[in-house]
Order: sequence, then C-alpha cells, then structure tokens
Amino acid sequence: VNQLTVLGIETSCDETAAAVVRRESDGSAAILSNVVRDQLDLHRRYGGVVPEIAARAHVELLDAAIAQALDDAGLTFEEIDAVAATAGPGLIGGLIVGVVTGKAIALARGLPFVAVNHLEAHALTARLTDGIGFPYLLLLVSGGHTQLLAVEGVGRYRRLGTTLDDALGEAFDKTAKLLGLPYPGGPEVEKLAKDGDASIPLPRPMLGRAEPHFSLAGLKTAVRQAAQQRAPLSDQVVADLCASFQEAVAEIMVDRTGRGMALYLDQFGEDAPRQLVVAGGVAANQRLREALDRLCHAQGFTLHAPPLALCSDNGAMIAWAGLEHFARGERDDMTAEARARWPL
Ligand code: KG4
Ligand code: ZN
Repeated sequence: VNQLTVLGIETSCDETAAAVVRRESDGSAAILSNVVRDQLDLHRRYGGVVPEIAARAHVELLDAAIAQALDDAGLTFEEIDAVAATAGPGLIGGLIVGVVTGKAIALARGLPFVAVNHLEAHALTARLTDGIGFPYLLLLVSGGHTQLLAVEGVGRYRRLGTTLDDALGEAFDKTAKLLGLPYPGGPEVEKLAKDGDASIPLPRPMLGRAEPHFSLAGLKTAVRQAAQQRAPLSDQVVADLCASFQEAVAEIMVDRTGRGMALYLDQFGEDAPRQLVVAGGVAANQRLREALDRLCHAQGFTLHAPPLALCSDNGAMIAWAGLEHFARGERDDMTAEARARWPL
C-alpha cells in the first residue's frame, strides 16, 4: 500500500473541525493536524445547539479551520490524496456546508471526495489510535446515539442493541438542564459528581434484560422527581444528584455492555478477538471508562477508549474514516448529498 494523506471536514453539529491524517505504507497512522473550533459561546445562552446559528457559524469558521489544518500539518493541497467530509447524520444545515466545501475543494484541486458517516467515523477511531483489527464490539455513546454494535469490517456493522428512547449524551444533557447546569451537560455533571455522594436512589432501567438494549428517559425523569422532592436545591444536593445519576449510568452501561459481550461471542465464536471499543462524546466520561475497564478485566476483553480530544467531534476521525474507505478504492462522486438521517 502507498502512503495516504486525507483532509477531513466535520460540521454535523456545533464543532467546526478540519484535520489531516496520514497512513504510512507500513500501515502506521498519524494525525498531522486536528483543528476544532467549538461554537459553545454562540449556543450556551439557548441551552442547546440552535441549528440555524450552527450552520451560519460553520460558513464563517470552516475555511479558516481548513487552512489552519493544512498549515499545522505543514502541507499544501498538492500533498493531499483525498478530501473527506461528514455527510450525515446530523443537523442538515451544517452538513450541507461541510459537504459543499469538501466537494468544491475536490473539484478545484482534482482530488477524490469521500462522504463520511459520522457514526462510522466514531466507530473506526480506535483503529487510528490503537491500530486494532476486526472484529470488535463497539459501545457508541454520543448526544444522538446509544448503540452496541459488532464491527466486522469497514462498512460492515451489526447492531446488537440500541436505545428505546433517549441517547446517553441526551440523558446527561437533559439531567444537567433540569438541575440548572449549562450546556453541554455531560462534562458539567461529571465535574459536579466528583463532590457528590451517590446516595440518592435512582432506577436502573433494563438491568438484567437478555437483549442489550437501553432505556434512559426514565432515569432523567427520576432525577427530576428526586430534585423536586429536595427543592430548593443546595449545591451539595445538586452534586449528590449528579453523582447518583452517573453511578446509575455506569451500572446500566456495564450490565448492558456485558450482555453485548455475550451476544458478540455467541455470534462470532468464543475465539473472536475480545476487544471493546467505547466511542462518541460520552466516552470522555472517566467514571464510565473506569466501570467499563473493570468489566473488560472480568470478561477478558481489552478496552480501547480514544484520547479525550478524539471522543468529542473532530476532523481527524472523519479524515480517518475517509482514508479507510479510500484505501479500499471507494469514493463518492459530485452527486453525494448531505443527509440528516443515516443509520449505520
Ligand atoms: O459525539 P458528540 O461530541 O456529538 C454527537 O455526535 O452527538 O457527543 C456529545 C455528547 C453530549 O451529549 C455531551 O454532553 C456528551 O457527549 N459528553 C459527556 C462528556 N463529554 C461530552 N457526557 C458525559 N461525560 C462527559 N465527560
Ligand atoms: Zn459525534
């Protein structure tokens, strides 16, 4: 195989990101640059991402982010082999900005274009950072998705379990909001939980069920009720609620992922590589990582969790997913479109 260098563009939510990733002919991979411009200051006062504001901000920030990514990598467009952009799933306005920009660069520079599925990019990041092979079990936990998948190869995903209601990141964000904490709630809840006592009883929906599905909406409702019973809330009670919520989440994730492991070994055989990858924004949560680490120890699995900067949305994961497809001879033409919904 030849050395491959790919520019990746990410605009599916509220991060405007561009990065350059390279795979050497010996198969080793490196992130040459990774530029992320978050738009938090624009969205915070609305308590969440406002799609129209996000799309306009991507228009304003993306060109400079791409120029910076090339500059940080010390490269020009002439040294890039392909351009990859997130085409979905996500907020359609932002996706269109990224896809149109990626296609324009590809056209102007005579480069191949790869339309990347954002979820697949999260799913493949551990191959960039840890160089792991297929198959592996993936716990994908982001703001919009909560799934257990068996990853058999590039483009080959078998869904083992999914959420019946809220995504895990959504549960963190909604819990934070009802406790009066700023957006995005996940990191806030984790921070406050450190000073709290996980002493407030909360339910563990789906615990012990055979199928590795999730249900998280009830947990948030239980936090709301517990908060109402204890109003007005002192800082200590807020911290205790955060800690109790996070403990419930950790216990649920361990139970459900344990079921996922059993199903994975059922389907791929006892000799299948025992590898668990945790990906998506919530994979940044240290308590969750710790709990999964313990589970992996007990089950003889290795845990692969990307470094924090690669858990939240970024361009490197998009460049890498594009590179994996391009290396297989796959590319998209100029009819590729942004799509708000695009299940794995
Ligand atoms: O993958 P991501 O950056 O965007 C999506 O594709 O959704 O995930 C964002 C989600 C948000 O819900 C955010 O609150 C959550 O990940 N998150 C966390 C932490 N950091 C980010 N949740 C819990 N603990 C964290 N440390
Ligand atoms: Zn994401």
